[in-house]
Parts: sequence; C-alpha cells; structure tokens
Amino acid sequence: MKYKKPIFITIEGCEGCGKTTQSELLKKYLESKGLTVVLTREPGGSIVAEQVRNILLNPKFNVAPYCELMLYEASRAQHLEDIIKPNLQKGCVVICDRFTDSTLAYQGFARGIDKKIIEKLNNIATSGLKPDLTIYLDINPNKGIKKAKTVNKGKLTGGDRIERESLKFHNNVRKGFLELAKKYPNRIKKVKTSEVIEKTQKEINKEIDKFFKKKKIYV
Ligand code: TMP
Repeated sequence: MKYKKPIFITIEGCEGCGKTTQSELLKKYLESKGLTVVLTREPGGSIVAEQVRNILLNPKFNVAPYCELMLYEASRAQHLEDIIKPNLQKGCVVICDRFTDSTLAYQGFARGIDKKIIEKLNNIATSGLKPDLTIYLDINPNKGIKKAKTVNKGKLTGGDRIERESLKFHNNVRKGFLELAKKYPNRIKKVKTSEVIEKTQKEINKEIDKFFKKKKIYV
C-alpha cells in the first residue's frame, strides 16, 4: 500500500561524490517502503530553474560572485514554488540533490562571500523551509574532481564552470560541508563514500532508517 508523508531530504557533497546515483537509489529504497517519492535537483529541477542552471554551469561564461550567488538563489526560489512546496503539500517525500548547504559551502566557504548574507538569501529563497534530513557524502576532492570530469568512455573532460575551479576551491567546499555537518549534527548526517556503490548505499540507508524510525514513519 502506498502512503504519504511530507518529508524533505537533501543530499549534499563535493564533485564526484556520487550524489546523483545515490539519490536515485534512495528514491527506490523509500518507494520499496511504500512511500511516494519525488526526486529533484538544484540548481534546476523545474523549467525556468533549469534555464538558470544552464547559465550557471556554462564554462564559457564569466560570472561575477554576487551574480552567481543570486542566480543560485533565483533558481531555488523558482524550484521551491514549482516542485518542492507543491509536492510536500501533497504529502510526498521530496529528495533534493543539493540545496542551501551547497550555497554556504560553495559561495560562502569557497568563494568567500559573507555567510550571513547567504543565510539571509537562503531564507528568502526558501521562505524559511529547512530540510528534515541532509545526507552529506564525504569524498576527498582530489579523487572526486577526477571522477566528476571523467565522462565519455573514461576520458577526462574539462568539466562545467564550477568543476573547473582549482583544487583549493574544492578543498574549501569540503571544509565548508564538514563545518556545517559539525554545526548541525541533528540534521546533517555525514556518510563516507566508498568506491563500491552498494557500500555507500548501505551506510545511507542506515541513516535513513534511523531517521524514519525516530519519526515513527516505518519500523
Ligand atoms: P551538480 O552538478 O552536482 O548538479 O551541481 C551543479 C554545480 O553547482 C556543482 O558544482 C555545485 C554548484 N552549486 C553551487 O555552487 N551553489 C549552489 O547553491 C548549488 C545548489 C550548487
């Protein structure tokens, strides 16, 4: 029997951490428990927001830091109205591949924009909506960035505009996520990624089961 619970889960991590694969596996796992699940992503996730994503990730564009920040927030504000809010209102579990923690990690910790400004803008774009649970997939950027750029029969590509940033930038992103995980231990659960997809999946499901049992959603 299908049943409904409005739960908002976000998946975060550095480049190449396997978020997208793990988000899809998590959707299937929760569906197997009888829940109605919507999987979406940021930046993007809806028609207008995906257009903003195309600007943000195009390596041909030079985007000024505040323009970058506001485009991520613009995409989020649209995505929230189009996908996140209506599906939570319908009682679905919404899984979002990246959300506000990415803005703090990338535009705050790595790009150097004042985190208080980002928190304010995050709050405006989301109308204060916070994830119920965040899974942070930890990977060393040294490994992750190579993985992220390796597509097309194992060939190394240039990557998108953000993937092309320096290793120092990506190390600062990771530091940001680790700091956020320390600051919000109840919400953000750190999972160490493994080369073996099933191993990472098992660790994620452990955190998911703990959370859902605590909420008395399934036992
Ligand atoms: P993705 O390729 O993991 O879907 O994410 C797109 C890129 O956007 C990734 O490099 C992380 C970056 N990003 C930010 O810099 N700030 C944000 O707020 C979000 C959501 C993503």
